[in-house]
Amino acid sequence: MSSRPELQAPPEFFYNDTEARKYTTSSRIIEIQAKLSERALELLALPDDGVPKILLDIGCGSGLSGETLSESGHHWIGLDISQSMLDIALERETEGDLLLSDVGQGLGLRHGVIDGAISISAIQWLCNADKTVNNPRLRLKSFFSSLYRCLTRGARAALQLYPENQAQLEMITTAAMAAGFAGGLVVDYPHSTRAKKYFLCLICGPPSITTTLPKAKGEHGESCSEEGSSDEDDGTVNVAERRRPRKKQKITKKGKGREWLLKKKEQMRRKGHTVPPDTRYTGRKRKTRF
Ligand SMILES: C[S@@+](CC[C@H](N)C(=O)[O-])C[C@H]1O[C@@H](n2cnc3c(N)ncnc32)[C@H](O)[C@@H]1O
Repeated sequence: MSSRPELQAPPEFFYNDTEARKYTTSSRIIEIQAKLSERALELLALPDDGVPKILLDIGCGSGLSGETLSESGHHWIGLDISQSMLDIALERETEGDLLLSDVGQGLGLRHGVIDGAISISAIQWLCNADKTVNNPRLRLKSFFSSLYRCLTRGARAALQLYPENQAQLEMITTAAMAAGFAGGLVVDYPHSTRAKKYFLCLICGPPSITTTLPKAKGEHGESCSEEGSSDEDDGTVNVAERRRPRKKQKITKKGKGREWLLKKKEQMRRKGHTVPPDTRYTGRKRKTRF
């Protein structure tokens, strides 16, 4: 069976009571999720004004990622589709406000009230539909457009994800850009199999707002505690700058000419085929009939 949880069962079933508890008590998971959420918070580039912000934790689970937001003094709202994960979050007395919600159906929040959003290891789930009515493209569209609407202009979202493949990554980033976001992917430790991490960094607002992406980690050989990496090139991929598809080549239909036709007819005759005689009309361009 595939090791990817998304291919095993829908999230609300996969993260059942047993799995939710196992997930939340694993010291390895606790450590990894804390690091990822610290990095996501850093990528939000919130103003250092000492004012607590209202943030979202999308796919908050049992509150491991939200804990980083609380520790930094921010208020947060956590959304998750799994009742079992949210039950554990309540049991752990996490400080965020929790909403049982399928973010693929939109966030359902007021417009322009959220100062930033993080999501840790969750949004790849939106690409797996358990029913034919759950079209991943439509779910991504509802998710990103509602996220765009609830953020204040200039606010950022830092979404860490585990894409299954390049096509999935494209589908997610395309949906985000179509919703109006600027920004793109920041890939930390791009050459390390284990430490490589994808963060979709989105900026909400008109194009006049600065859209410079943060630098990826692991560009100059600095190592990650998870795995050493000797990365040389820039792991940052700005979606706005990606190569656009080439313009379709114009195919002009050009006749092959009388000479070519006469040669072809001669070849056919030599092979013994019955071919109409050559006349002054052979190879002549026909008039278009309507
Ligand atoms: C790997 S867990 C991560 C939880 C948490 N962010 C953390 O870092 O510990 C992924 C979470 O995404 C949630 N999730 C998956 N699909 C979702 C959806 N459509 N709407 C809301 N939450 C979803 C799952 O229920 C699960 O709690």
